[in-house]
Amino acid sequence: MASNSRGQFSSKFGFIMAAAGSAVGLGNIWGFPTQTASNGGAAFLFVYLAMVCVLAYPMLVAELTIGRYGQSNPIQSLKKVWPKGKVGAVILGITAMTVASLILSFYAIVAGWLVGAFAGSGLEILGMDAAAEWVTSFGDSRNLLLMVIFMAMTAHVVKNGVHDGIEAWSSRLMPILFILFGVLILYIFTQEGAMEGLEMYLIPDFSMITPKLLVSAMGQSFFSLSLGCATIMVYGSYLSKNVNLPKTAMQVAMVDTAVAIGAGLLILPAMFVAKHNGVEIFSATGELLSSDTLVFTVLPAMFHTMGTMGTVVSLVFFLLMMIAALTSSISMLEVPVACAIEELNQKRTTAVIWIAGVITAISAIIVFNFGALFGLVIKVTTVYGQPLLGLCWALFVGWLWSRDKVLQEIKQGYPELEKGLFWKIWPWYVRVVCPILMLMVFFA
Ligand code: PHE
Repeated sequence: MASNSRGQFSSKFGFIMAAAGSAVGLGNIWGFPTQTASNGGAAFLFVYLAMVCVLAYPMLVAELTIGRYGQSNPIQSLKKVWPKGKVGAVILGITAMTVASLILSFYAIVAGWLVGAFAGSGLEILGMDAAAEWVTSFGDSRNLLLMVIFMAMTAHVVKNGVHDGIEAWSSRLMPILFILFGVLILYIFTQEGAMEGLEMYLIPDFSMITPKLLVSAMGQSFFSLSLGCATIMVYGSYLSKNVNLPKTAMQVAMVDTAVAIGAGLLILPAMFVAKHNGVEIFSATGELLSSDTLVFTVLPAMFHTMGTMGTVVSLVFFLLMMIAALTSSISMLEVPVACAIEELNQKRTTAVIWIAGVITAISAIIVFNFGALFGLVIKVTTVYGQPLLGLCWALFVGWLWSRDKVLQEIKQGYPELEKGLFWKIWPWYVRVVCPILMLMVFFA
């Protein structure tokens, strides 16, 4: 397909909503607050913020720059950056595409549970308690059905293309997400117990800062900004040349971080409201109950203690979670779809149907072998795949690509680039500091 017939984001706002939509997801609303709660509250928050600045933001610019330079799918973009290593570029492009697809295969299962929790609250309001019980109780057929529904939603958006699908839906859904968030935070603060959670969130216990915490914070920042698996590279390839990459990346990172901080303001107080209402949030040994029980056990238990209002709040909360998950899952699906459209010369609809079909089949295999595969796929993709691929992108930009070409690429949307602080720090940073930090994440 000729490059001028590729989709493009029509406005900077649309791009920021799409990229922030990719970034804002379960990682922010679930991962971040639970990590914070179990890692010294504000101490984790501080370390996380530092990690976003020193690692995630520079990497976000690097991945965006590769994509915008390539104006093509990740396989082609990497080939353009590394002209002497075409085979290597193809292998890395395919690996990134596979990691994005596998992340989607587990993400869709969890997102399916959110659809279930949302539907469960709705069914309860309608008085259909038996059905509500079925959609919210763990079981193979229920997990399968909900995952398929979520995959269908994802495929539907991606099928409509970059402008009418990804951009249009992200621009609609993200503002709704921000509003729902604000409403829920305000509501939770009216509840007894909320202040205790706020204290835990904002008063740091610096003795908790250990190497393990540093590594968790780094991994969290990487997952949260959707780095490593070429989603940001693909979105960057739909950006026009007059966009200022460092500035736009900064805005995306800020929205993502603001939502993570906001999620802490919602979830930590909510946990203590739950505790106040008699729901167990600490184990017998005084440790916080593990993160996997938080969203699907602790919070629903709290909503139950709030009566009818609780059901409405639950409906809103799970709607918010579904939106966050959907704007992330579409970015994952777009990676293999963009490759199929351009590398195999397929129509978008054809590519979406068969790729979503294959990922749904992989998800189904995980659903039926949950104990053996679910944790494994998460580990392979997020603990190994994302950091290792991120390391490769840093090495590409820092060592393989000529500094002058990087400069020319970024300069197109930022003519004063050489005069600013960014250009004094970033190239060296991506060359040396980011690879070292990422190796640390990996070996830890
Ligand atoms: N950033 C998303 C989240 O926080 C997850 C994600 C990872 C999205 C990788 C795309 C690629 O939930």
